[in-house]
Amino acid sequence: MTSCSANTKSGAVSSIAHDIHSYANPEFVRVRHLNLDLKVIFEQQTIQGTAILTIEQSGRHAKQLVLDSRALQIDETEVSPDGMKYREARFSIGKSDKILGAPLRIDIAPDTRFVRIRYSTDPTATALQWLHPEQTAGKQRPFLYTQSQAIHARSWIPLQDSPGIRVTYEAVVHVPPGMKAVMGAAQDSSSRDRSEYRFVMDQPIPSYLIALAVGDLAFQSTGPRTGVWAEPSIVQKAGAEFSDMEKMLEAAEKLYGPYRWTRYDVLVLPPSFPFGGMENPRLTFATPTIIAGDKSLVSVVAHEMAHSWSGNLVTNATWSDFWLNEGYTVYIERRILEELYGPRRAEMEAALGYQDLQEELKSHPPADQILHVSLVGRDPDEGATQIPYEKGALFLRQIETAFGRERFDTWLKAYFDHFAFQSITTAQSLAYLRTHLLAGDSQTLPHVDAGKIDVNEWVYQPGLPATAPVPVSEAFQSVDLKLADWLRGKKIDTTEWSTQEWLHFLRGMPEKPGVTRMRRLDSSWRLTESPNDEILDQWLLMAIRNGYEPAYPRLEEFLVTVGRRKYVKPLYDALDRNRAAAIYEKARPMYHPITQATLDALMAAKK
Ligand code: BES
Ligand code: ZN
Repeated sequence: MTSCSANTKSGAVSSIAHDIHSYANPEFVRVRHLNLDLKVIFEQQTIQGTAILTIEQSGRHAKQLVLDSRALQIDETEVSPDGMKYREARFSIGKSDKILGAPLRIDIAPDTRFVRIRYSTDPTATALQWLHPEQTAGKQRPFLYTQSQAIHARSWIPLQDSPGIRVTYEAVVHVPPGMKAVMGAAQDSSSRDRSEYRFVMDQPIPSYLIALAVGDLAFQSTGPRTGVWAEPSIVQKAGAEFSDMEKMLEAAEKLYGPYRWTRYDVLVLPPSFPFGGMENPRLTFATPTIIAGDKSLVSVVAHEMAHSWSGNLVTNATWSDFWLNEGYTVYIERRILEELYGPRRAEMEAALGYQDLQEELKSHPPADQILHVSLVGRDPDEGATQIPYEKGALFLRQIETAFGRERFDTWLKAYFDHFAFQSITTAQSLAYLRTHLLAGDSQTLPHVDAGKIDVNEWVYQPGLPATAPVPVSEAFQSVDLKLADWLRGKKIDTTEWSTQEWLHFLRGMPEKPGVTRMRRLDSSWRLTESPNDEILDQWLLMAIRNGYEPAYPRLEEFLVTVGRRKYVKPLYDALDRNRAAAIYEKARPMYHPITQATLDALMAAKK
């Protein structure tokens, strides 16, 4: 691991892992604070404003501050020693790279402490989705939201866009009358008028967690520290669906120590949101597809909340360390689910995750089955497969089993305290694991066979170690028996089944059950009309694979309204080229740039 050194606040030299996905030069200059003043202009699909960056120089005099940018229009740059008097500074924008965007180089002096940039975003900004009124629930007003992870923050703010660099920020956001702005930050209520919103984030966070949404938004409380934001027509339903959030927060705190971000709210976005959820601090962004009416898909909320420890508090230093964010988070997500809904539910989720992992391992080359993945020349979004999530979680589960929950929980809590508000590499994380858990324990706990845990194999080798745990769900074993009966033509009782049992049942069908069986399934349980998007997605995939025509109108309706990448990508992949192209042509304008990019590549490969 190459590393560079840079000054910390205390003046001590700290190491920064080299990040291949950023042009920044933090070993010379580090941005510590952002002060944003932004105007959101829907007609032109642009955000216009200024960013004032507070910088800290290392003493090795850098002549330039190098920032990341993508398709930003830079109008003027100025520098100042005191934040009062600014003078114009020269800047240049380097050659633009398809993945990284372009370096923005600004001349600075040894005494420069503040850099002010006047800029505007491009309509093609990859972090921004500008929605027309028809794409919202209310159909009256437009909507804007950001998605900065992994390296999209640079398309709406000129900054050092690396997860190894943390900043505090404050922002003023000007919006059209009748619209509301929310950010993953504290809202400053003192100066709230109807078109200007002020925010403060006084805890240092990586740039990929900076988030903004603007729309016709309402709030509903679900507890003293939790609540939901959503369009007015769905806020109540969302509040009911997520009414366990306060209990989830308490469960997580009991395990891993105090929640450090004050509030935990969820913003429910329109259905084009490309992800299940995004862990923006204090304000998780979520897809409306998890509102099933029966709380059966709230694992996404447990997951994003878990990131308040793994990810937001202790952050991956580079995108090759992504499994530190996601593997730990999936492990914690299931611990939270177990606390709230019991081990039966948690084990079903683990078993479904294990099935996903097996599928994913089949479709990725050995090099991409490694937890500490190489992303040279690649977009970090490509590293976001199920492997860092599920293989990472399985690794922790093996350690938990070997050492026992009590010892493992104590270690994990200490890990979060030790690295709180820091960005760390895989090597740092493993060193802490070895020193504080693995090493020495064979003496104090002779029954622990720590030798069985081959850390290097887990982290640096493809596939799964032979000793990897296999989650076994008793509930699913009984579903398997019923499935066998059903395939033999028997009637089965499914009245008590949860969403997870349904998913397992459908996934357990033969690859091609055939149209007759598809019809039998549909007439027994009306799957084409399922109100549960997770079940519907699984069903539609089967419908495509079996040429089950009656589901196609529903399939098309689903694809032109829902932009969640996890759902739409496999569906387009399974469709034949002509059908996929016909639907995609209609649906594409509705999708977020991230989903568009994924599907553009998929469609090109289909030709
Ligand atoms: N941080 C991720 C989403 C993400 C990953 C965005 C990589 C951009 C690049 C988020 O926490 C996440 O993992 N979401 C999952 C849901 C979860 C329950 C597995 C998703 O969106 O599917
Ligand atoms: Zn996650």
